Amino acid sequence: MKIKDYDIKNKNIILTGATGKLGLEYVKFLSLCGAKTICIDINKDKLEDLKKKFKDTVKTYQVDITNKNLLLEVSKDLKKNKIEIDGLINNAAGKQTTIIDGILTNFENYPLDSWKEELDIDLTGTFLCCQVFCKNFNTDKMSSIINISSTYGLVAADQRIYGESGLNSSAAYAATKSGIIGLTKYLASYWQGKKIKVNVIAPAGVYNNQDPEFVKKYIEKTMLKRMANPDDLFGAIRYLLSSYSDFMTGSTITVDGGWTSW
Ligand SMILES: NC(=O)c1ccc[n+]([C@@H]2O[C@H](COP(=O)([O-])OP(=O)(O)OC[C@H]3O[C@@H](n4cnc5c(N)ncnc54)[C@H](O)[C@@H]3O)[C@@H](O)[C@H]2O)c1
Repeated sequence: MKIKDYDIKNKNIILTGATGKLGLEYVKFLSLCGAKTICIDINKDKLEDLKKKFKDTVKTYQVDITNKNLLLEVSKDLKKNKIEIDGLINNAAGKQTTIIDGILTNFENYPLDSWKEELDIDLTGTFLCCQVFCKNFNTDKMSSIINISSTYGLVAADQRIYGESGLNSSAAYAATKSGIIGLTKYLASYWQGKKIKVNVIAPAGVYNNQDPEFVKKYIEKTMLKRMANPDDLFGAIRYLLSSYSDFMTGSTITVDGGWTSW
């Protein structure tokens, strides 16, 4: 029996939102796996820190992913440097909050601009990165696109656990995260017969020193009785980037401690 290759060493992976809370953890993980991460983010200072820390295992681009022309320049630069892309992780996201300008804002008053901005970054940004960077894939071997959704792309946020905490995500977040699942299925079908697999990871809330009362309520709704840690997501990422998932496309891996299963 020939064992498939779980190794992602020397693979070139584009990661958007690379300087965010989870993005940084993914960069660490990919570097430990021997992959090279092409880090895209809008935050210049944090990208510079990342470059200093990870040196040659990363390449960084300060780009707003809603700007197609800037993404095309990155694509061109990668080609110029003869860097072929094996994977793309669409992880960047805008603000995920119902606190607008310091005020807790309900659905009825949620500003149209905030709705548009969230859709633009999370959903349109994912669309644009798929559209532009698919041209950097090597068509002779399998490439992997991982679109990051959320449990809130699958089920509604339970308003009862959030109260006035302001930790609740917006209607735009629900729309964009379920939209990402639809876009993923569309692309999986569109590229059928081509060597591109497109899948989703839907994580639950990641622990980040949130208000203890909120954490308690969140955990009560989770079968495995804790919030997620960043390293809970590493296995799904490695699996989807490796050849073990080469018969998988259009699917969603939910990493949520059972939250969406009752
Ligand atoms: N943290 C969680 O609990 C959780 C749970 C489920 C899903 N997710 C998803 O995981 C992903 C990462 O979450 P996170 O907590 O690290 O978020 P984060 O807010 O810490 O990071 C988002 C990153 O995206 C970057 N970004 C924002 N707008 C951009 C733009 N226009 N162009 C380029 N980069 C831009 C930001 O600078 C930031 O570095 C998101 O898609 C999020 O929805 C997070």
